[in-house]
Amino acid sequence: MLRIENLHANAGDEPILRGVNLVVRPGEVHALMGPNGSGKSTLANVIAGRPGYEVTAGSVSLDGVDLLALPPEERAQQGVFMAFQYPIEIPGVSNMEFLKAALDSRNAAQGRPELSALQFLKLARAAAERLGLGPEFGKRGVNEGFSGGEKKRNEILQMLLLEPRLALLDETDSGLDIDSLGTVAAGVNAFAGEDNAIVLVTHYARLLEHIVPDHVHVLVAGRIARSGDKSFALEIEAKGYGWLTAPA
Ligand SMILES: Nc1ncnc2c1ncn2[C@@H]1O[C@H](COP(=O)(O)OP(=O)(O)OP(=O)(O)O)[C@@H](O)[C@H]1O
Ligand SMILES: [Mg+2]
Repeated sequence: MLRIENLHANAGDEPILRGVNLVVRPGEVHALMGPNGSGKSTLANVIAGRPGYEVTAGSVSLDGVDLLALPPEERAQQGVFMAFQYPIEIPGVSNMEFLKAALDSRNAAQGRPELSALQFLKLARAAAERLGLGPEFGKRGVNEGFSGGEKKRNEILQMLLLEPRLALLDETDSGLDIDSLGTVAAGVNAFAGEDNAIVLVTHYARLLEHIVPDHVHVLVAGRIARSGDKSFALEIEAKGYGWLTAPA
């Protein structure tokens, strides 16, 4: 479903990704780990089409569609979703307006009917409640003044409403207290199914006890240095990254 071949990309003028290969099949959960600065967010951003990166070689396709040829909004319409490591605040745009606009746009692009305001409100409230976000959060500006953990939960709320084909979750666990971690993991697990796939960037094996990955990859200096199953994450937690080097 997601196929990345020999991906090279620059952030600014710096070469960051130096030959990433990754295949993700429907129903799979992949965890992406690796030292700070190894290129995990860069990889997620390049897949999603965030500006500021330049692909210099390689390919990325989703269900056979060349993602790199599409602007970010069309990638989203193809089913790519990204939960940011650092969610941005959009003061003046209410969270509910934002979510409704995103969902309407997705539905229109996929030829699905638009939800009425009432249908949407019910759906959004139910999802928000599941994530422990109270009703007042919907009226507030997108992430405006949200605590770190609320921002992360809000990213997952977007995911639950948009039902993407591919969810890229960039350190959605960081900054969450232990209860929030459980709530967010339950949200992600409720979403995970045979028709979608998740790539989870994380530094902590603890998350992977809640969201069990099929594959764990370690990115070192812009390449996947090694992959394994979920036990590999525990090995990394015990040994660190020093023994893993980027393949030549
Ligand atoms: N615009 C830019 N210009 C130059 N270098 C950049 C730019 N953006 C990112 N980088 C560099 O790219 C490298 C990879 O960054 P990236 O955010 O992908 O790392 P990461 O693996 O997600 O790290 P972390 O675990 O800290 O989140 C870093 O060294 C970063 O400083
Ligand atoms: Mg990062």
